[in-house]
Formats: sequence, structure tokens, C-alpha cells
Amino acid sequence: MTHQTLPLIAPSILSADFAKLGEEVAAVEKAGADWLHLDVMDGHFVPNISFGASIVKAIRKHSKLPFDVHLMVEPVDCWLEDFANAGADHITFHIEAGAHAHRTLQKIRALGLKAGISLCPATPAEMVGELMDMLDIILVMSVNPGFGGQKFIHSQIAKIQTLHDMIKRSGRDIIIGVDGGIDPETAPLATAAGAGMLVAGNAIYSKPDYAAAIQSLKSSQ
Ligand code: DX5
Ligand code: ZN
Repeated sequence: MTHQTLPLIAPSILSADFAKLGEEVAAVEKAGADWLHLDVMDGHFVPNISFGASIVKAIRKHSKLPFDVHLMVEPVDCWLEDFANAGADHITFHIEAGAHAHRTLQKIRALGLKAGISLCPATPAEMVGELMDMLDIILVMSVNPGFGGQKFIHSQIAKIQTLHDMIKRSGRDIIIGVDGGIDPETAPLATAAGAGMLVAGNAIYSKPDYAAAIQSLKSSQ
């Protein structure tokens, strides 16, 4: 057990019932979610297609939660404005998706949004070392991106710790999110290593009681 402040919980609507997305979004807000995580997949950067900016726009009116858009797309820059206009509050993209992450961060910030970078399991923490002054969020993938309901990859814990130390040294206010395979068993491992935000799809949306599911992630610390 650790004695850290409660992590923010960001339900991923990837595991929600797409036939009633508006209700599903409102339900997790009522159940105590802190952010709403929106997984955008292009069938190119990752081997799956999910949804685009028009869906984000459609559900925007069903929730006041911060919309945390996770772009699993390549290229990235041409989509930023669409997601900003659709109601994104944060845009996180993959450092593996292009050579010009710094420019992408400049563009997200110029749109007035919080900016994040995500790292696939194979990508080392040091890849964001030169970008710390541009970042609000670092999203550590604890599964290979593309699908919900996968098993947590434990080797990513050391990366969370490394990033936590890098952030401390930078003196910047950057939150570490962890995405993939989060449940009441893996959540405390991620937060003990330095995560301040946990994405959870299956562990919330596959449960009958969303409030109990969110509470069990928060109190598993
Ligand atoms: C994976 C997505 C995740 C995923 C999490 O590519 O980025 O956000 O939906 O789902 P669970 O919590 O079910 O692993
Ligand atoms: Zn995600």
C-alpha cells in the first residue's frame, strides 16, 4: 500500500456501448470520472479503426468532463484543428508517429489545449527528454495500442519511474497517465511508480456499476 493522493480516473469510451454513447459518457461523469479518454485510431498507425472528430463533437454536449483525446494516428498535424474544434481539452499523440514531435506540440499549444505525448511499450522514456518544457501529459502505454481489454505489460513500471524522476528534475508540472490493462490489481503498481492519471476501459465499462468500478480503482491504492 502507498500513501499517495488519489489518481485521476479517465474512462476510455472505447469499451462503451457505441449505440448509446451520449448516455455512456454522462453515466461515467455521474459515477465520478475525472477525465473522459477518447481513443482515436486510424487503421494505419494502429491495426484498428475507432472514431473521429465528428463523434467527439457529438458527445461533447453530453459531458462537462475534460476531453482527453488520445490520437493513435499517423500523420498527426493535419487532424489537430478538427479535434480542437470538436471540443478536445487535451490532445496526446504518439512520438512514434512522426519526426517532428516538437512542431506538433507547438501546434497543440497554439490551439490553446493541453499537450501530451504517448510512448508505446517499446519506446524508451528518454525519447521525451528534450520536450519536457512543452508537455502537460506523458501517457505511458502499458499495452500495445489498438485494442481495449489487453493484459498489462509489467515492464512499463520501470519506465513510469524513470519518467517520474525526469519530471521531478525538470521542475515542470507534468502528469503521467498510464493506459492499458488498468484494473484494481495493476492500478496501485502504476500509481506507486508515479502515475497521476489512469485510463480504464474494460475495468469500468464492462462492469454493471460504473461508480463502484471507479471507486475500486481509486481505493485500490
Ligand atoms: C488502447 C487504448 C486504451 C484502451 C484501454 O489502444 O489507448 O485507452 O482503450 O482499454 P483497457 O482499459 O480495456 O485496457
Ligand atoms: Zn488510450
